[in-house]
Amino acid sequence: MTVHFNNAGAGLMPTAVTQAMTGYLTEEAKGGAYETEQRHAATLERGIYDRLARVLDAPVDDIALFDSATRAWTSVVSHLPFAAGDRIWITPYEYAGNLILWTELRRRLDLRVEVVPVLPDGDLDLDWMEANIDDDVAFVSVPHVPSGCGIVLPVEEIGRILAPRRCFYGVDACQSVGQLPVSLAVIGCDLLTAAGRKYLRGPRGTGFAAIGSRLRARVSLPFHDLHTADMVADDAYEVRTESARRFEYAERGNPGVMGLDAAARHHLARTDSGPGPLRDAVREVVEGLPGTRLIDPGSRHAALVTFTHDRVPSQDIRAGLHGRGVNVWIAQGSHTPLYMRTVGVEQAVRVSPHYYNSPADVETFAGALCDVLR
Ligand SMILES: Cc1ncc(COP(=O)(O)O)c(C=O)c1O
Repeated sequence: MTVHFNNAGAGLMPTAVTQAMTGYLTEEAKGGAYETEQRHAATLERGIYDRLARVLDAPVDDIALFDSATRAWTSVVSHLPFAAGDRIWITPYEYAGNLILWTELRRRLDLRVEVVPVLPDGDLDLDWMEANIDDDVAFVSVPHVPSGCGIVLPVEEIGRILAPRRCFYGVDACQSVGQLPVSLAVIGCDLLTAAGRKYLRGPRGTGFAAIGSRLRARVSLPFHDLHTADMVADDAYEVRTESARRFEYAERGNPGVMGLDAAARHHLARTDSGPGPLRDAVREVVEGLPGTRLIDPGSRHAALVTFTHDRVPSQDIRAGLHGRGVNVWIAQGSHTPLYMRTVGVEQAVRVSPHYYNSPADVETFAGALCDVLR
């Protein structure tokens, strides 16, 4: 049996997810895709939104579906009403895809993109944020957990600092939904985005967002697709909804949406306490081996343990573990470039267990890692 410690890449889909997808696909092939869609309208048009609203503790009208977390983020952030000179706050843990968009928006709109400073241990300097927040800050962008290391950023505390302010607050929850409690209501953000395939254990090609009403009211979209808009005269159209579905396109991969719905149901039925204990066990194994260096900033940690070795390249460790039945992945420094550059890491081994892994999996990992580093 493979030990899957690459949940930060993509979690293993539960049987209920694969069954929902293959069942739907078979129905499409046998009975027609439009007809199948009609039969499953309760899930596709309502149920999936209700379920994701419960997963994120957000109003159902805030939920929109996309085909990736990046699509969710860019579909909203590209259309925000920024003005020249607006300040954008990001953190050193910003995901590279989001950073590419900020770079482009800065160039086009003459924004000032500022990186929030961190304390010596890697935690964000919340006192600095509190002292420097002003009404020329238009957007604050924070990943709940970054791609390349396991720090949990204090999104709730940041939400409290920003609450009285004019700025919009966006949280990239790609690596946290499914492994940590995520509540839009508690965080108090205007935008929260995630992928279905990671700790939520949904299929690839699925992403979603919660887009708050304050933000929606300020965005003027350049296009609305036909599930939300009608041509009411030869030269006029009307939008039928104020909900976040305005940000979607009409056409979707419905087997994927059914799989995402099954993953959300599965998640909502969970009673475990998450992957935290396994994370600590993995960290202990890595720390105990000579030559390893943990990339582990901050005081709160999620189930992503990244490390390098002073003699064996990360790619060789990954390949060696894979050959011994253990899946881990490579954290590319360029995917979390601001932080990883400051610590001089181009590639690290990323080990990301989930609640369905066991202490025996950690033992298998430990044995395999010892072998590879021998
Ligand atoms: C923190 C973070 N944000 C965003 C993304 C992008 O997700 P997607 O590949 O679904 O666009 C990732 C992907 O790994 C990520 O780790």
